[in-house]
Amino acid sequence: MNILVINGPNLNMLGIREPEIYGSKSYNDLVNLLLDYASERKIHLEVYQSNHEGEIIDLLQDKRDAFHRLIINPGAYTHYSYAIRDAITSCRYDAIEVHLSDIHHREDFRKISVIQDVCVKQISGKGFDGYLEAIDHFLKG
Ligand code: DQA
Repeated sequence: MNILVINGPNLNMLGIREPEIYGSKSYNDLVNLLLDYASERKIHLEVYQSNHEGEIIDLLQDKRDAFHRLIINPGAYTHYSYAIRDAITSCRYDAIEVHLSDIHHREDFRKISVIQDVCVKQISGKGFDGYLEAIDHFLKG
């Protein structure tokens, strides 16, 4: 199984950025956790992070032949990027949307996800475990 993981803007700041919301672990901790979890389960998983909308769209397009399953945390783009939404549908990913924090119990603007209905599942508020739950969801088929 192949899984593509894409993280959006400011997720590279994990551990530094509002630790009371996002936790004290670093972005590298997240990447290492995902790579270890995947390799124990014989999954080929690649993880990318970008602070730029166009780069995320380029990645989605460039990886579409190699990957069918996508785990995406678009950061703040979640709430307004119709371009990322269109890229997910154009490239026909089976996508799971993940958020570290609980976007439904924060500021009102975070309650709206413009990608939610083009994803098979939304996981929010479970920290790093949300990504592992997404992998498990794909494994269950
Ligand atoms: C986030 C939630 C978004 O509202 C925020 O802009 C982020 C991170 C999360 O993982 O909780 O950058 O996607």
